Amino acid sequence: MHFSPVAFYLTIIVPCLALPNIFKRCKIDDDKCLKSSVEYAISNLGNGLEELKIGPLDPLVLPAIEVQAIPGPISLYQKYSNGMYRNFTQLKVVQFKVDLDKCQMYLEAFLPTIFFSGDYSIKGRLFLLEIDSDGTVTGTSTNSTLFANMTCVKYQQNNNQHIKVTDLQANFVWGEILIHFGDVFKGNDKLNEEFDKSVNENIAAFLEILKEDEMEILGALIKDYANKVFSTYSVSEIFEMS
Ligand SMILES: *[C@@H]1O[C@H](CO)[C@@H](O)[C@H](O)[C@H]1NC(C)=O
Ligand SMILES: *[C@@H]1O[C@H](CO)[C@@H](O)[C@H](O)[C@H]1NC(C)=O
Ligand SMILES: *[C@@H]1O[C@H](CO)[C@@H](O)[C@H](O)[C@H]1NC(C)=O
Repeated sequence: MHFSPVAFYLTIIVPCLALPNIFKRCKIDDDKCLKSSVEYAISNLGNGLEELKIGPLDPLVLPAIEVQAIPGPISLYQKYSNGMYRNFTQLKVVQFKVDLDKCQMYLEAFLPTIFFSGDYSIKGRLFLLEIDSDGTVTGTSTNSTLFANMTCVKYQQNNNQHIKVTDLQANFVWGEILIHFGDVFKGNDKLNEEFDKSVNENIAAFLEILKEDEMEILGALIKDYANKVFSTYSVSEIFEMS
């Protein structure tokens, strides 16, 4: 028997970490298993996963968003900071598919209830109301659906095949949204109520203005966390290959 000191060294400096037990292995073409596996992993990432440097998903802290006023009935400069989603981890995965040949993945998830909150700074016009204010916004989203198309590339690392998500297109189909801006017109309850009512009655138009930034943030986050898993574990460590 030949004992190779080089091979011995390699096994020491490239330790094979076990896949964390929140990731249940599935056959790569078993959509039903993949769907429940992804759902189980997300439901267990509320506090994040330190060994992969994945941050907490509940609450999910969002980077600041700033949009400039555009001409139209909702002409508002808006800035949101210290934003966070709660209960994102309670999503139900409807579908998760992997096509390794084309290197594409597809995720569809139903979000029963998400709570969000943040600090806002808004200035401009909402229909007939002139606004220049800051405060705290809270809201609830019920029955929304998240869609994500991922494109990846395959590469070799230590003789194992890995994948890397290079592009992620996300979309939200909103369910019922209720937003509460609170004390926009400091102390004027009647105008505060009117403002919240106007926002909620025109919620689709209101959210459309923020959607692109929102999707970009969420897409980048999913891509980043997915790649933390894919760069650490090879395809055959994550999936059962048939
Ligand atoms: C939100 O999450 C908390 C903590 O996990 C849970 O107790 C609560 O029931 C959830 N709320 C909803 C509406 O799902
Ligand atoms: C959300 O969906 C559930 C079941 O799919 C339904 O019972 C409930 O009425 C919906 N809620 C809203 C606010 O649309
Ligand atoms: C994902 O791809 C499908 C098929 O090409 C397309 O119909 C769908 O609109 C895409 N979704 C997103 C969020 O880009």
